[in-house]
Amino acid sequence: MTAPNPRDSVETVFDRRAATYSNHTWHVRYAERLVALAAPMAGMRILDAATGTGLAAIAAARATGPTGHVVGVDVSAGMLTRARQAVDAAGLLTIELVRADATTLPQFADGSFDLVLCSAGLLYLPVQAALREWRRLLRPGGQIGFSTMAAGFPVAARLFRNHARRHGLALTDPASALGTQARCRQALRDAGFTSAKQVGETIRFSSRDLEHAWEAHTRGPHHDAIATLSAEQAETFRRDYTDALADRLRTDADRLLTAEVIYAFGER
Ligand SMILES: C[S@@+](CC[C@H](N)C(=O)[O-])C[C@H]1O[C@@H](n2cnc3c(N)ncnc32)[C@H](O)[C@@H]1O
Repeated sequence: MTAPNPRDSVETVFDRRAATYSNHTWHVRYAERLVALAAPMAGMRILDAATGTGLAAIAAARATGPTGHVVGVDVSAGMLTRARQAVDAAGLLTIELVRADATTLPQFADGSFDLVLCSAGLLYLPVQAALREWRRLLRPGGQIGFSTMAAGFPVAARLFRNHARRHGLALTDPASALGTQARCRQALRDAGFTSAKQVGETIRFSSRDLEHAWEAHTRGPHHDAIATLSAEQAETFRRDYTDALADRLRTDADRLLTAEVIYAFGER
């Protein structure tokens, strides 16, 4: 029986996911797309906040070349170990990896960076505290770019919340806070940025990406209410949800495996 354990910290969650994280090609495409849209130039100093396995940091280091400098920051030692292996395998000498909370980086002086990137990370961070710290770290005129799922995506997570309701749990959509272009723009303005471009696109998952959907939803940091279920209730919920997911995969794979995403940019 799989009893949920919502008390895992975000570090534990990502330490556990580290070994297979970069095997999910949508993670790679999502991070590289943010970097492509940010279009970093040679020689830039870049902070990759919540760098994970270093996907955006590596793409940024390739773009900025030997005169650039990229700092990747993450709280998960497991993700950073994978990042270190990928950076070494790519032979990139301009990436520094730092284990730290990306919302509090006193080791870096004001104006230390030309560009701050955060790919798929703000979902786990206090948004305003993070954006304000990154604004401090940017030089005047420096750019910020982050990515986020649109509200209601991924569809598998929406299905999970719908099933949770049937089991008496009212779960909120963690993507909703930044889930529209208007909300991204407003969050940037609230933190003191001038909002620049916003790009809405879709991203495609593979059915393999859903294999650990139950664990991802129940052990992640967003749905503490799962802890109120007994082991038996959780098991019934798990069976209902995984059956519904398999059914949706058979009947409506296209919609299930496509997510709307937002890439948002601002200027200090
Ligand atoms: C979904 S992953 C994204 C990783 C990477 N940016 C990418 O695009 O593949 C979220 C990352 O945020 C990190 N994280 C969560 N809270 C953090 C914090 N307060 N400071 C730094 N990293 C954090 C996690 O450890 C995890 O590696």
